[in-house]
Amino acid sequence: MLSSAFAAFLSIALAASPISAFPGLASRDSLTERQLGDVLENLPIPKLIVDPPPGPLVFEGTKLVNDAAHPWRELRPGDIRGPCPGLNTLANHGYLPRNGIATPGQIIYAAQEGFNMWGKTARFITYSAMLVSGNPITNLLSIGGKTWRTGLDPPPPARVGGLSDHGLFEGDASMTRTDHSFGGDHAGFNQAQFDQFVDFSNEYGNGFYNLTVAGELRYHLIQQGIATNPSFEFVNGRFFSAYGESTFPINHFVDGRNYNGQLSMAAAETFFKDGKYPDDFWRAPAPIGAFGIERVFMAHPTVIPGRNVGGVNNYVFDPTSADLIKFCTLYSNFVDQVLGLYPNPHGLLRRNLILNLGWFYNSIDDSGCTERFPYGQL
Ligand code: HEM
Ligand SMILES: *[C@@H]1O[C@H](CO)[C@@H](O)[C@H](O)[C@H]1NC(C)=O
Repeated sequence: MLSSAFAAFLSIALAASPISAFPGLASRDSLTERQLGDVLENLPIPKLIVDPPPGPLVFEGTKLVNDAAHPWRELRPGDIRGPCPGLNTLANHGYLPRNGIATPGQIIYAAQEGFNMWGKTARFITYSAMLVSGNPITNLLSIGGKTWRTGLDPPPPARVGGLSDHGLFEGDASMTRTDHSFGGDHAGFNQAQFDQFVDFSNEYGNGFYNLTVAGELRYHLIQQGIATNPSFEFVNGRFFSAYGESTFPINHFVDGRNYNGQLSMAAAETFFKDGKYPDDFWRAPAPIGAFGIERVFMAHPTVIPGRNVGGVNNYVFDPTSADLIKFCTLYSNFVDQVLGLYPNPHGLLRRNLILNLGWFYNSIDDSGCTERFPYGQL
């Protein structure tokens, strides 16, 4: 039987009501909270809480997505936004719940519908984010800071993990956000970083961001991190996502009717800064993921995974990390990371982790990697 307070929370959470941020929470307290969450993990909770990923879109072509049914709106108090311009845009236009709290299924569907992101890419990113940064008990992920509903007692199980948590999914060397270790807002838009994005687009793309610019800027951001951030880290998931994210503006922010791989600075600013589609924006003409990722890497193929040790300019190679060709290491290290966060789950927590790990693997089932079942099977 559900306790009434928890049942009330669930119905509120499922209705996606506004959630206010909890600013005082340090980002590395996850384990303690996860242990507190253990108290509730054996409660029987209806299976519908974990939604299976949506399938492909019925219509996979380009269409107007900045339409009358999806107007951009200003944030209301308590609405959450984070480091991803794609998800911020989807939330600001109502493709995602406007409070910024969503289930993996909602995020995957919105990425497909609003940007024509390829379903497997959307699943891969979303389940990896959900597994390390989401709340597996409530099946909710904040697209920004972690939160919990105020006024509920006890709060920890109501907590929603968030994408802004550094070192889980969010990482260093972003194009338009600053590194976490510099302090301040590492998830919000940073004008100086964006100015650099514009400079590179002027220098290598004649005023547009394209794959040539992406290759140069990605390399520069890594060198910049090594030279300025004593805690700079660039391994495993971040190694992949940084290269992948370099391609998204080209693949997803260019209008589907004039899909030429060249992103204007006006459109870039709207997406990155305001989380807003340009007027009359049409999505990509076909489902697309991180197309061009290997070109971004091959512009400077000497980059290796690693981290600064003991200060700036001391970048040390990490042989245990995945890189772009060690894809199964990425998968395997990721499963180990999840295991580190949830060493001994039971009940509902275990079931949801098994489901989410399964759907995560599903998104890469053609990769030849061996599926792992650290928590057994259902
Ligand atoms: C819908 C299609 C999507 C697009 C077009 C998109 C685009 C982008 C871009 C361009 C960046 C780089 C920002 C920068 O370096 O300044 C980024 C970062 C990020 N995205 Fe997305 N994204 C999409 C979907 C997703 C999904 C589904 C998730 C996870 C659920 C996600 C999570 C993130 C996170 C956590 C970052 C920050 C990484 C970091 O800089 O540390 N994105 N995204
Ligand atoms: C990017 O733009 C520059 C300048 O117009 C051009 O020389 C280069 O070929 C473009 N690269 C791609 C991949 O479109």
